[in-house]
Amino acid sequence: MEFRESAHGVLHPVGLERRRALFAGAALLALPQLGWSQRSDQTPALDVPYVPTPQPVVDKMLEMAKVGSSDVVYDLGCGDGRIVITAAKVHGARGVGVDLNPVRIQEAQANAKSAGVTDKVQLRVANIFETDVSPASVVTLYLLPTINRKLRPQLWRQLRVGTRVVSHAFDMGDEWPPERTEQVDHRTVYYWTIKEEHKKRA
Ligand SMILES: C[S@@+](CC[C@H](N)C(=O)[O-])C[C@H]1O[C@@H](n2cnc3c(N)ncnc32)[C@H](O)[C@@H]1O
Repeated sequence: MEFRESAHGVLHPVGLERRRALFAGAALLALPQLGWSQRSDQTPALDVPYVPTPQPVVDKMLEMAKVGSSDVVYDLGCGDGRIVITAAKVHGARGVGVDLNPVRIQEAQANAKSAGVTDKVQLRVANIFETDVSPASVVTLYLLPTINRKLRPQLWRQLRVGTRVVSHAFDMGDEWPPERTEQVDHRTVYYWTIKEEHKKRA
C-alpha cells in the first residue's frame, strides 16, 4: 500500500489516481530503451515510507522525553538521522539510528558528519523488527499505527523499566494508552514509559 502525508503530517493510504501516478513514475525509470540506466540501489520493501519529522516536532519529542547526556536514544526508522543527531548535538546524548533503506543511512551518516557528532551517533542499515532495542533509554518513532502496534510487544519485552517512548503522530492503540500527549505545529506527540506491568504482560 502507498501512503501520502496530509497537511498535518499524518501518513494516509493514497487513492487509485495517486497509485497510478506513482506506478507511472516507477515504470518510466525502468525504461532502458530511453537511455535511463536501471537502478542499482534496489530499495527494500519498507513498512513505512520516508517522511521526515519537522524540526520543531523533533525538539518537542526530545523535550518530552527529557533527553540528557546520560541517555541512549534509538530512532526506529531514522530516515536522515535528524532525531538522533539533534539528541547528540543539543542534548549530549548518544544515539542509534536504524533504517532499512541504505540510502537514508548514507544521508544520515553525512548529516552526522556535518553536525560533528559521529562519535556519539551510530547509524545502521537494519530492520526495526530484527533490532535489539534493549540498550535504549529513549525510543523515538514516526511510523504508522499498524507498525506501532506490531512493535509494541517488542518494546515491552526488550526495554527496561523506566525507558521513555515518544511517537510522532501515531499512538499505540487501546492496549497501551499514552501517559501524555502534546501538540506542536498541529501535530501530536505521544509519550509512554515502560513499567513493571508491561514486563509482566510481555
Ligand atoms: C516516516 S519516516 C521517519 C524518519 C525519521 N524517524 C523522522 O522522524 O524524521 C520512516 C522511516 O522508516 C524506515 N523504515 C520503514 N520500514 C522499516 C523497517 N522495517 N525497518 C527499519 N526502517 C524502516 C523508512 O525507510 C523511513 O526512513
